[in-house]
Amino acid sequence: MTLPLKHFLSLADIPASELRAILDEAHVRKKARAGFPKGKVDTDAPLAGHTVALLFEKSSTRTRFSFDMGMRQLGGTSITASAADMQLGRGETIEDTAQVLSRFVDGIMLRSHSHETIVALSQCASVPVINGLTDYNHPCQIMADLQTLEEQGRDLKGLSLTWVGDGNNVAMSFVNAAAKFGYRLVLSCPDNYQVRGQDVERARSAGAQIEIIQDPKRACESTDVVIADTWISMGDTDSDQRLKDLAGWQVNEDLMNKAEKDALFLHCLPAHRGEEVSAGVIDGPHSVVFDEAENRLHAQKAILKYCLEA
Ligand code: CP
Ligand code: NVA
Repeated sequence: MTLPLKHFLSLADIPASELRAILDEAHVRKKARAGFPKGKVDTDAPLAGHTVALLFEKSSTRTRFSFDMGMRQLGGTSITASAADMQLGRGETIEDTAQVLSRFVDGIMLRSHSHETIVALSQCASVPVINGLTDYNHPCQIMADLQTLEEQGRDLKGLSLTWVGDGNNVAMSFVNAAAKFGYRLVLSCPDNYQVRGQDVERARSAGAQIEIIQDPKRACESTDVVIADTWISMGDTDSDQRLKDLAGWQVNEDLMNKAEKDALFLHCLPAHRGEEVSAGVIDGPHSVVFDEAENRLHAQKAILKYCLEA
Protein backbone atom coordinates (compact mmCIF):
# COMPACT_ATOMS: atom_id res chain seq x y z
CA MET A 1 0.00 0.00 0.00
CA THR A 2 1.39 3.46 -0.83
CA LEU A 3 0.89 6.24 1.70
CA PRO A 4 -0.66 9.54 0.51
CA LEU A 5 1.88 12.19 -0.45
CA LYS A 6 2.64 14.82 2.17
CA HIS A 7 2.20 18.12 0.37
CA PHE A 8 2.69 21.43 2.19
CA LEU A 9 0.18 23.77 0.56
CA SER A 10 -1.77 25.33 3.41
CA LEU A 11 -1.45 25.26 7.19
CA ALA A 12 -5.22 24.76 7.34
CA ASP A 13 -4.82 21.27 5.80
CA ILE A 14 -2.13 19.89 8.11
CA PRO A 15 -3.01 18.46 11.53
CA ALA A 16 -1.90 20.57 14.51
CA SER A 17 0.19 17.69 15.93
CA GLU A 18 2.17 17.44 12.69
CA LEU A 19 2.79 21.20 12.55
CA ARG A 20 3.91 21.09 16.18
CA ALA A 21 6.33 18.27 15.36
CA ILE A 22 7.74 20.28 12.41
CA LEU A 23 8.37 23.28 14.66
CA ASP A 24 10.03 21.08 17.31
CA GLU A 25 12.27 19.56 14.65
CA ALA A 26 13.21 23.06 13.40
CA HIS A 27 14.33 24.10 16.92
CA VAL A 28 16.32 20.90 17.50
CA ARG A 29 18.01 20.98 14.10
CA LYS A 30 18.94 24.67 14.43
CA LYS A 31 20.57 24.06 17.83
CA ALA A 32 22.34 20.91 16.65
CA ARG A 33 24.29 22.77 13.97
CA ALA A 34 25.18 25.87 15.97
CA GLY A 35 28.69 26.95 15.01
CA PHE A 36 28.84 24.84 11.82
CA PRO A 37 29.93 26.60 8.62
CA LYS A 38 26.75 27.29 6.67
CA GLY A 39 27.55 24.84 3.90
CA LYS A 40 28.30 21.92 6.21
CA VAL A 41 25.85 19.03 6.10
CA ASP A 42 23.89 18.18 9.27
CA THR A 43 25.40 15.22 11.09
CA ASP A 44 22.53 12.86 10.23
CA ALA A 45 22.14 14.04 6.57
CA PRO A 46 18.50 12.89 6.50
CA LEU A 47 17.84 13.78 2.85
CA ALA A 48 21.07 12.38 1.38
CA GLY A 49 20.39 11.31 -2.18
CA HIS A 50 17.31 13.55 -2.53
CA THR A 51 16.87 16.46 -4.96
CA VAL A 52 14.09 19.05 -5.06
CA ALA A 53 13.13 21.41 -7.87
CA LEU A 54 12.69 25.05 -6.78
CA LEU A 55 10.41 26.80 -9.28
CA PHE A 56 9.70 30.52 -9.30
CA GLU A 57 7.04 32.46 -11.17
CA LYS A 58 7.92 35.53 -9.06
CA SER A 59 11.03 37.10 -7.52
CA SER A 60 12.58 35.77 -4.31
CA THR A 61 15.63 36.23 -2.11
CA ARG A 62 14.84 34.42 1.16
CA THR A 63 12.78 31.55 -0.22
CA ARG A 64 15.29 30.80 -2.93
CA PHE A 65 18.40 30.81 -0.77
CA SER A 66 16.84 29.17 2.28
CA PHE A 67 15.43 26.21 0.31
CA ASP A 68 18.67 25.71 -1.58
CA MET A 69 20.89 25.91 1.51
CA GLY A 70 18.33 23.87 3.46
CA MET A 71 18.57 20.98 0.99
CA ARG A 72 22.38 21.13 1.09
CA GLN A 73 22.39 21.05 4.88
CA LEU A 74 20.02 18.07 4.87
CA GLY A 75 22.50 16.23 2.65
CA GLY A 76 20.51 16.65 -0.57
CA THR A 77 20.60 18.99 -3.55
CA SER A 78 18.26 21.33 -5.40
CA ILE A 79 17.71 22.66 -8.90
CA THR A 80 16.38 26.23 -9.15
CA ALA A 81 14.50 27.44 -12.22
CA SER A 82 12.45 30.43 -13.16
CA ALA A 83 9.14 29.27 -14.65
CA ALA A 84 9.59 31.79 -17.48
CA ASP A 85 12.77 30.01 -18.59
CA MET A 86 11.07 26.61 -18.59
CA GLN A 87 8.66 25.39 -21.27
CA LEU A 88 5.98 26.53 -18.78
CA GLY A 89 6.80 30.01 -20.05
CA ARG A 90 5.90 28.87 -23.60
CA GLY A 91 2.60 27.30 -22.67
CA GLU A 92 3.43 23.76 -21.48
CA THR A 93 0.79 22.90 -18.92
CA ILE A 94 1.43 22.71 -15.19
CA GLU A 95 -0.15 19.22 -15.28
CA ASP A 96 2.42 17.90 -17.79
CA THR A 97 5.22 19.71 -15.99
CA ALA A 98 4.14 18.00 -12.75
CA GLN A 99 4.35 14.56 -14.31
CA VAL A 100 7.69 15.19 -16.01
CA LEU A 101 9.42 16.71 -12.98
CA SER A 102 8.11 13.88 -10.80
CA ARG A 103 10.24 11.51 -12.91
CA PHE A 104 13.39 13.54 -12.16
CA VAL A 105 13.19 14.92 -8.63
CA ASP A 106 11.98 13.88 -5.17
CA GLY A 107 9.98 17.02 -4.41
CA ILE A 108 8.88 20.32 -5.96
CA MET A 109 8.73 23.75 -4.34
CA LEU A 110 6.74 26.32 -6.30
CA ARG A 111 6.23 30.06 -5.89
CA SER A 112 3.28 30.86 -8.14
CA HIS A 113 1.06 33.78 -8.99
CA SER A 114 -2.16 31.85 -8.63
CA HIS A 115 -2.89 29.37 -5.84
CA GLU A 116 -4.79 27.27 -8.39
CA THR A 117 -1.49 26.57 -10.14
CA ILE A 118 0.06 24.94 -7.09
CA VAL A 119 -3.10 22.95 -6.41
CA ALA A 120 -3.03 21.65 -10.02
CA LEU A 121 0.69 20.85 -9.65
CA SER A 122 0.05 18.86 -6.48
CA GLN A 123 -2.83 16.96 -8.07
CA CYS A 124 -0.70 15.76 -10.98
CA ALA A 125 2.67 15.30 -9.23
CA SER A 126 3.72 11.95 -7.81
CA VAL A 127 6.19 13.67 -5.42
CA PRO A 128 5.45 16.11 -2.57
CA VAL A 129 4.77 19.74 -3.46
CA ILE A 130 5.70 22.63 -1.13
CA ASN A 131 4.17 26.09 -1.36
CA GLY A 132 6.79 28.85 -1.53
CA LEU A 133 4.09 31.60 -1.67
CA THR A 134 1.02 32.12 -3.82
CA ASP A 135 -1.47 34.96 -4.09
CA TYR A 136 -3.49 33.12 -1.40
CA ASN A 137 -0.94 32.22 1.29
CA HIS A 138 2.66 31.77 2.44
CA PRO A 139 2.72 28.81 4.86
CA CYS A 140 6.53 28.35 5.12
CA GLN A 141 6.86 31.97 6.24
CA ILE A 142 4.52 31.53 9.17
CA MET A 143 6.35 28.44 10.40
CA ALA A 144 9.54 30.54 10.52
CA ASP A 145 7.68 33.36 12.27
CA LEU A 146 6.33 31.04 14.95
CA GLN A 147 9.77 29.51 15.45
CA THR A 148 11.11 33.03 16.00
CA LEU A 149 8.47 33.82 18.63
CA GLU A 150 9.20 30.58 20.51
CA GLU A 151 12.95 31.30 20.41
CA GLN A 152 12.16 34.60 22.11
CA GLY A 153 10.64 32.58 24.95
CA ARG A 154 7.02 33.19 23.96
CA ASP A 155 4.44 30.47 24.48
CA LEU A 156 2.20 30.52 21.41
CA LYS A 157 -0.86 29.35 23.35
CA GLY A 158 -2.78 32.46 24.31
CA LEU A 159 -0.16 34.82 22.82
CA SER A 160 -1.73 37.89 21.25
CA LEU A 161 -0.64 38.70 17.66
CA THR A 162 -1.81 41.79 15.77
CA TRP A 163 -1.63 42.00 11.99
CA VAL A 164 -1.59 45.61 10.73
CA GLY A 165 -2.15 46.56 7.08
CA ASP A 166 -3.09 44.62 3.97
CA GLY A 167 -4.98 41.37 4.67
CA ASN A 168 -2.76 39.58 2.13
CA ASN A 169 -1.27 36.12 1.56
CA VAL A 170 0.95 36.27 4.67
CA ALA A 171 -2.00 37.39 6.82
CA MET A 172 -3.97 34.45 5.42
CA SER A 173 -1.41 31.96 6.69
CA PHE A 174 -1.57 33.53 10.17
CA VAL A 175 -5.35 32.98 9.98
CA ASN A 176 -4.87 29.38 8.85
CA ALA A 177 -2.42 28.59 11.67
CA ALA A 178 -4.31 30.28 14.52
CA ALA A 179 -6.38 27.26 15.58
CA LYS A 180 -3.39 24.94 15.12
CA PHE A 181 -1.14 26.79 17.59
CA GLY A 182 -3.72 28.48 19.83
CA TYR A 183 -2.62 32.10 19.52
CA ARG A 184 -5.10 34.96 19.48
CA LEU A 185 -5.04 36.94 16.25
CA VAL A 186 -6.25 40.51 15.78
CA LEU A 187 -6.61 41.74 12.20
CA SER A 188 -6.41 45.47 11.58
CA CYS A 189 -6.98 46.15 7.89
CA PRO A 190 -8.77 48.96 6.02
CA ASP A 191 -12.00 48.35 4.11
CA ASN A 192 -11.31 46.47 0.86
CA TYR A 193 -8.07 45.05 2.31
CA GLN A 194 -9.60 42.61 4.81
CA VAL A 195 -8.64 38.94 4.91
CA ARG A 196 -11.28 36.96 3.01
CA GLY A 197 -14.24 36.45 5.36
CA GLN A 198 -14.85 32.83 4.44
CA ASP A 199 -11.32 31.85 5.53
CA VAL A 200 -11.66 33.74 8.81
CA GLU A 201 -14.97 31.96 9.42
CA ARG A 202 -13.48 28.57 8.58
CA ALA A 203 -10.59 29.20 10.99
CA ARG A 204 -13.00 30.30 13.70
CA SER A 205 -15.08 27.18 13.29
CA ALA A 206 -11.87 25.16 13.69
CA GLY A 207 -11.37 26.93 17.05
CA ALA A 208 -9.29 29.99 16.11
CA GLN A 209 -9.64 33.15 18.18
CA ILE A 210 -9.66 35.90 15.57
CA GLU A 211 -10.86 39.44 16.15
CA ILE A 212 -11.27 42.18 13.57
CA ILE A 213 -10.38 45.61 14.99
CA GLN A 214 -10.00 48.07 12.18
CA ASP A 215 -8.48 50.93 14.20
CA PRO A 216 -4.75 50.05 14.36
CA LYS A 217 -4.20 51.82 17.70
CA ARG A 218 -6.97 49.86 19.37
CA ALA A 219 -5.84 46.67 17.63
CA CYS A 220 -2.32 47.03 19.04
CA GLU A 221 -3.39 47.79 22.63
CA SER A 222 -1.53 45.39 24.95
CA THR A 223 -0.66 43.01 22.14
CA ASP A 224 2.43 40.79 22.38
CA VAL A 225 3.40 40.81 18.71
CA VAL A 226 2.86 43.37 15.96
CA ILE A 227 3.17 42.18 12.36
CA ALA A 228 3.45 44.19 9.15
CA ASP A 229 4.00 43.34 5.50
CA THR A 230 4.36 45.32 2.31
CA TRP A 231 1.34 47.28 1.12
CA ILE A 232 2.10 46.26 -2.48
CA SER A 233 2.52 42.54 -2.93
CA MET A 234 4.00 40.93 -6.02
CA GLY A 235 1.31 40.98 -8.68
CA ASP A 236 -0.57 44.00 -7.24
CA THR A 237 -0.98 46.64 -9.92
CA ASP A 238 -2.85 49.43 -8.09
CA SER A 239 0.20 50.79 -6.21
CA ASP A 240 -0.87 54.46 -5.94
CA GLN A 241 -4.30 53.57 -4.62
CA ARG A 242 -2.82 51.13 -2.10
CA LEU A 243 -0.34 53.68 -0.76
CA LYS A 244 -3.27 56.05 -0.17
CA ASP A 245 -5.66 53.52 1.31
CA LEU A 246 -3.13 51.93 3.67
CA ALA A 247 -1.42 55.14 4.82
CA GLY A 248 -3.11 55.05 8.25
CA TRP A 249 -1.83 51.51 8.92
CA GLN A 250 1.90 52.21 9.21
CA VAL A 251 3.60 50.45 12.12
CA ASN A 252 5.58 53.23 13.77
CA GLU A 253 6.77 54.11 17.26
CA ASP A 254 3.33 55.51 18.20
CA LEU A 255 1.67 52.24 17.37
CA MET A 256 4.35 50.08 19.03
CA ASN A 257 3.87 52.14 22.20
CA LYS A 258 0.31 50.80 22.44
CA ALA A 259 1.60 47.23 22.57
CA GLU A 260 3.14 45.46 25.58
CA LYS A 261 6.54 46.89 26.64
CA ASP A 262 8.33 43.73 25.53
CA ALA A 263 6.27 43.33 22.34
CA LEU A 264 8.02 41.88 19.31
CA PHE A 265 7.84 43.16 15.74
CA LEU A 266 7.70 40.73 12.80
CA HIS A 267 7.94 41.40 9.05
CA CYS A 268 8.54 38.67 6.45
CA LEU A 269 10.65 41.08 4.33
CA PRO A 270 11.29 42.65 1.90
CA ALA A 271 10.34 45.83 3.82
CA HIS A 272 9.68 49.38 2.70
CA ARG A 273 10.82 51.77 5.42
CA GLY A 274 8.55 54.80 5.57
CA GLU A 275 5.59 52.87 4.10
CA GLU A 276 4.24 49.90 6.08
CA VAL A 277 6.86 50.33 8.83
CA SER A 278 9.02 53.16 10.13
CA ALA A 279 12.80 52.71 10.17
CA GLY A 280 12.69 53.27 13.94
CA VAL A 281 10.54 50.18 14.45
CA ILE A 282 12.08 47.74 11.99
CA ASP A 283 15.61 48.70 13.01
CA GLY A 284 14.68 49.18 16.67
CA PRO A 285 14.70 47.07 19.84
CA HIS A 286 11.36 45.28 19.30
CA SER A 287 12.28 43.97 15.88
CA VAL A 288 13.31 40.33 15.32
CA VAL A 289 13.06 40.42 11.53
CA PHE A 290 16.52 39.07 10.77
CA ASP A 291 16.10 36.10 13.13
CA GLU A 292 12.78 35.62 11.36
CA ALA A 293 14.53 35.63 7.98
CA GLU A 294 17.16 33.15 9.22
CA ASN A 295 14.46 30.86 10.52
CA ARG A 296 13.09 30.41 7.01
CA LEU A 297 16.08 28.09 6.62
CA HIS A 298 15.51 26.10 9.80
CA ALA A 299 11.73 25.86 9.55
CA GLN A 300 11.89 24.80 5.90
CA LYS A 301 14.45 22.09 6.61
CA ALA A 302 11.92 20.58 8.99
CA ILE A 303 9.19 20.98 6.35
CA LEU A 304 11.37 19.35 3.67
CA LYS A 305 12.15 16.45 5.99
CA TYR A 306 8.46 16.05 6.87
CA CYS A 307 7.44 16.00 3.18
CA LEU A 308 10.27 13.98 1.67
CA GLU A 309 11.35 11.42 4.22
CA ALA A 310 9.81 8.00 3.58
N1 CP B 1 9.74 36.54 2.85
C1 CP B 1 9.96 36.02 1.63
O1 CP B 1 9.30 35.07 1.19
O2 CP B 1 11.01 36.57 0.97
P1 CP B 1 11.42 36.36 -0.55
O3 CP B 1 10.33 36.96 -1.40
O4 CP B 1 12.72 37.06 -0.69
O5 CP B 1 11.53 34.87 -0.82
N1 NVA C 1 2.95 39.78 0.59
C1 NVA C 1 4.24 39.77 -0.07
C2 NVA C 1 5.15 38.80 0.60
C3 NVA C 1 6.54 38.74 0.03
C4 NVA C 1 7.39 37.70 0.67
C5 NVA C 1 4.07 39.42 -1.54
O1 NVA C 1 3.27 38.56 -1.86
O2 NVA C 1 4.73 40.06 -2.36
